[in-house]
Amino acid sequence: MPNQDLSSQDLPNIGPIVLLGPPGAGKGTQAKRIVEEFKIPQISTGDLLRDNVQRHTPLGVQAKAVMERGDLVSDDLVCGMVGERLQLDDARRGFILDGFPRTVEQAIWLDGFLQHGIFDNSKPGASKVKGAKAAHWTPIVIRMDVDYNKLKFRLTGRRSCPVCGRIYNVHSQPASVDEVCDVDGAKLVIRDDDREEVIQERLAAYDRLTKPVADYYDRKGRLFVVNGDRPMDKVTAEIFQEIRRHSAPASGH
Ligand code: AP5
Repeated sequence: MPNQDLSSQDLPNIGPIVLLGPPGAGKGTQAKRIVEEFKIPQISTGDLLRDNVQRHTPLGVQAKAVMERGDLVSDDLVCGMVGERLQLDDARRGFILDGFPRTVEQAIWLDGFLQHGIFDNSKPGASKVKGAKAAHWTPIVIRMDVDYNKLKFRLTGRRSCPVCGRIYNVHSQPASVDEVCDVDGAKLVIRDDDREEVIQERLAAYDRLTKPVADYYDRKGRLFVVNGDRPMDKVTAEIFQEIRRHSAPASGH
């Protein structure tokens, strides 16, 4: 499903934003703030997969056991799912990839996908023109680093709203009324994979398979590292600054 109406022709292009970082680094939290500020959709592969699991789709059936173990779902399944999502209209001005790419193979796939030029960035800051000559969009890649002990503390305290997706934390960002969403009053839930033994596996999968993704982008000179171990607003300010630096229209346009 596309996020609200984010396809307005009057807003500037932002391009693809990739949020990297270990489980609990704050990717989802920061992605939601980027959506608000820059009006581009959040594409969270974790959320898309959980939605498929809940609806018992063939993809969800395949993904369920893998996710419960804390392993990664196969590249083919995830890339196919992302490819479909990126074709929706709301992604034309840009989008936030939260939790993708997570393997070097996925990063290579994404580069290929962006090279096919479904977007137009020939004029930075300009709106997408349907059918215009497409140009390659280079993603802004932001990695959030947080100490592993703090990650475990964050993840075991996380609660989320099953209706609007808002993220809370019993330690750092509690709901106004215990276990109830401030926005829609739904009862907050704990994610199935936020159990301590699964968190351990997820962190191990991050070390093994996703750290090399940051190296992949670093070698291409595209990696921007943020200290995610600070108050949320400070992290947000630095991320916004980096996005503006990349997406600002060049002078003369
Ligand atoms: P996914 O849903 O992507 O989970 P994840 O990467 O493990 O990340 P999280 O959602 O746990 O953390 P986050 O960084 O978003 O942190 P958040 O903002 O919530 O993936 C789940 C599973 O799906 C995977 O294990 C895998 O099986 C599968 N999958 C997904 N994508 C895949 C792919 N591409 N390929 C293959 N498989 C895939 O914050 C965490 C908590 O900390 C919150 O409570 C928040 O309030 C708090 N917090 C945030 N920022 C701060 C701060 N600055 N200070 C204090 N607290 C903070």
